[in-house]
Amino acid sequence: MAPTGEMTAGAGGFIDLHTHILPDLDDGARGWGEALAMAELAASSGTAGLFLTPHWLEGGYAPSPQEVIEAAGAFCERLSQRGLQLKVWPGMEVYLSPEVPRALSAGKLLTLADAGTHLLVELPFAAWPPYAEQVVFELQLAGITPVIAHPERCQPAAADPRRLCALVERGALVQLNAGSLTGRFGRRAQDCAWHLISCGCAHFVGSDAHNPSDRAPGLLEAARALRGALGDEGAGLLLRQNAENLLSGRPVQPLTTEKTAAGGAPGGAQGGSRRGGGSGAQMRGPAGLVRRLLGRFTSA
Ligand SMILES: [Fe+2]
Repeated sequence: MAPTGEMTAGAGGFIDLHTHILPDLDDGARGWGEALAMAELAASSGTAGLFLTPHWLEGGYAPSPQEVIEAAGAFCERLSQRGLQLKVWPGMEVYLSPEVPRALSAGKLLTLADAGTHLLVELPFAAWPPYAEQVVFELQLAGITPVIAHPERCQPAAADPRRLCALVERGALVQLNAGSLTGRFGRRAQDCAWHLISCGCAHFVGSDAHNPSDRAPGLLEAARALRGALGDEGAGLLLRQNAENLLSGRPVQPLTTEKTAAGGAPGGAQGGSRRGGGSGAQMRGPAGLVRRLLGRFTSA
């Protein structure tokens, strides 16, 4: 059973889908001091829930599911001792390789919230893996929906998001980093992140926090930008509602945009609409910004 804490931040609190807060399992928090400092930063900036997603890579950081669940339980106890009211769920950020489906069937991987439905996966940063489509397909055959972590930070996806949008068309989901939306990871990642939003190929926002200083948790700055571009409903979908949908077994919803409705965006836009089966949130952002981004990436 997934360890839980007590959530009292209210329905408006953010749910951070991607963090490296559990200490000493990967390159994230070092010791409980850093872990709790990060938790305090998250709680004080409006986050109500955290997915605890240490890296997993065969031959590298590779905590077992049991280790992650036990660490999450210990984290919950320390949160309670400090009076920090955050809800947490265990998971992993799994480096996508051809071995991932086999590792999953061998019980080496932890799905998000240990629910057996969604797996957070990370693409290589430098090159598009030729096995990506096959591995996504194999995971889906096993009943798992891949959630692709921060693709905007992956060079080939940022240079040409169409292959990523094609994965979304086939049912994959996408988590953007909050820092990408605000420019923390450079202009290319920022443009790609907003493009993915504009074409309906983004479903979650997470902090991908690694420490309490230069990679700290907190979604407030990104939330302000998202609210400005999408309005409260669209921002809430990415910052909270879709995580709640995932946790409760409801369908994760795509953003819809005027451009998507007009069919002018790359394939993911259409896929997003089909997958969600609903209208999702309407983008009400600065039309010029959206047009500029779409103009940069949309194929003729
Ligand atoms: Fe990460």
